[in-house]
Amino acid sequence: MTIAMEAPPSVERGEVILEARSVDKYYGDDRTPVLDSVSVALHSGEFVALLGPSGSGKSTLLRLLSGLMPPSGGMVLSHGEELTGINPNVAIVFQSFALFPWLTVLQNVELGLLAAGVPVEQRRERAVAAIDLIGLDGYEEAFPKELSGGMKQRVGFARALVVQPEVLFMDEPFSALDVLTGETLRAELQELWNSKSMPTRAVLLVTHNIDEAVTLADRILVFGANPGHIRIELPGLPAHERMHHGPARQHLVDAIYRVMTNPGEDASMLVGQPSAPARAERPRRYQVLPDVGIDDLTGFVQYLSSIGGRANVHDLARDLQLRSDDVLAIVEASDLLGFADLQDRAVLLTQPGVEFADAELDAEKAMFRHFALAHVSLLRHIVRELDASPSATLDSDRLMEELEEAFSGGEARRQFETVVDWGRYAELFSYDDASGELRLDPESGVGAADALREAMTADSSATWSVDGDDN
Ligand SMILES: Nc1ncnc2c1ncn2[C@@H]1O[C@H](COP(=O)(O)OP(=O)(O)OP(=O)(O)O)[C@@H](O)[C@H]1O
Ligand SMILES: [Mg+2]
Repeated sequence: MTIAMEAPPSVERGEVILEARSVDKYYGDDRTPVLDSVSVALHSGEFVALLGPSGSGKSTLLRLLSGLMPPSGGMVLSHGEELTGINPNVAIVFQSFALFPWLTVLQNVELGLLAAGVPVEQRRERAVAAIDLIGLDGYEEAFPKELSGGMKQRVGFARALVVQPEVLFMDEPFSALDVLTGETLRAELQELWNSKSMPTRAVLLVTHNIDEAVTLADRILVFGANPGHIRIELPGLPAHERMHHGPARQHLVDAIYRVMTNPGEDASMLVGQPSAPARAERPRRYQVLPDVGIDDLTGFVQYLSSIGGRANVHDLARDLQLRSDDVLAIVEASDLLGFADLQDRAVLLTQPGVEFADAELDAEKAMFRHFALAHVSLLRHIVRELDASPSATLDSDRLMEELEEAFSGGEARRQFETVVDWGRYAELFSYDDASGELRLDPESGVGAADALREAMTADSSATWSVDGDDN
C-alpha cells in the first residue's frame, strides 16, 4: 500500500448509492426521446462530471435521479430500491440561484430544512452552521438583492448542504458567475469535498467547462444529443495530476475536446487517437446546425482575423469570456461554412474566412449566401421548397414538422431558429412571425435558386433529409 498525504477520493469509491438503469425520457405527448437508454451509477466517495452539448438531456437526467419526475422507460434506483417519489437523499444547486427575494439569507437556507420537517431550534442551528461552512458569516440577515452573484450562489450551496444530502447535484453552478468568482467558489468547493467537511458522499456536476470537469472529477461522462445518450465515460486524473498543468492533464483535456468537437464520430476512437482528430465525414442521419446567431458568427470571424487568423480554442474561451461549449459552437459554425478550419484544438481562418472578415456588408452577405448554400443542406432544402412553390412561400409549421422528425422538440425549434436567422441574413427569404410564412425574397431571393445551382456545383456533398438522401 502506498503512503499518500492525501488519498484521491477515487481510491475510496464504494457501493452504488444511486443509479439510472437504461433510462428513457420523453416529455409530454412528444414521443421524441430526450434520453435514450442512459445507464449511470453513482458510487459512494466519487465526484462525477457530466459534459455535453446544450439540449443533450443533462438536466433531465438530474431531474430523473432526484425523483422530480419519473423516467418514461427504465428505472432509477436509490440504494438498490426503485425510486418512486422525490429522492430525499439528494440536494441540487442550480445555475440560477433561485432564492426567495423576500427572505433573508438565513431564512432562505432554513427553507431547505422546513420540507424535511426538522424542528425549529435545530433548523436555526444547522442553517447557521451551513452558512458558516460556505463562507457567508455575517450575511445571515441580508436579503438576496444586497448580495453579489457569487454570494447568492453561496446561499444556493448553503441551502443544498444544510440538509446534509448524501448526494449533491450541481447543474452548471458556476456558469452564471464572472470568471474569478466562479474560480474562487470552485476552489472552495473542491477544498470542502477533499477535506470531507461536508457530509455528502457523492457529487454529480453538470458543466460546460472541460477544465472544471478535469479539475474536479473522478469520472467524466460525455453526453451526446438527439437523443441524449452517454458517448463515453473517461476516468478522471489522480488527485496529484489535477491541479498540475502537466502532460497527463493536457492529454485528457485534448481527448475531451476532440470528442466534443466531433459529435458525429465514434468517441472511443477519438479518445484513442494521440493527435489530430479524424476529419472524415461519416454518413449522418442529418446535419446538426450549431446554435449560433449571425452576430456571434460574423463577430467571431472578424475577431479571429484581427488576432492573426489563428487561435487555440481553449484560449478563445478565456479571452472572449465565453463558455467553452459556446466557443465550440461558434467555431463549429465557422468550420461548417468554410470560414475556419478546426484542427485539433487550433482554429485557423481559411482564405474565404479572411475575405469574409474584410468584406463590406453587401459583399459579406453575398459571400455568406454562397457559402451557406454550399454547406448547409437544410438551407438548400428550404430554398428548393420555396423555389418549387407557386406562391414562393413555405409554411413554417410544415418545416417544423419535418425538423421534429429528426430532432427532439427543443432541438427542432433551435434548428429552425438558427436556419431562419441565417437565411434571412443571407437575404434568401423573409420570415413573418405572425403568419408563420417563409417567403422567397423578391429582390435577392429571385437569384436564390440560381445561387443554389451555382453553389451546388461548388459542393454537393452535404445532405439534408431525415433519411440522409439529398432530395
Ligand atoms: N419541460 C420540458 N418539456 C419539453 N421538453 C423539454 C423540457 N425540458 C427539457 N426539454 C427538452 O429536452 C431536451 C433536453 O433538455 P435538457 O434541459 O435536459 O438539456 P441539457 O443538456 O441540460 O441542456 P443545457 O446544456 O442547455 O442545459 C431539450 O431538447 C429540451 O428542449
Ligand atoms: Mg441543463
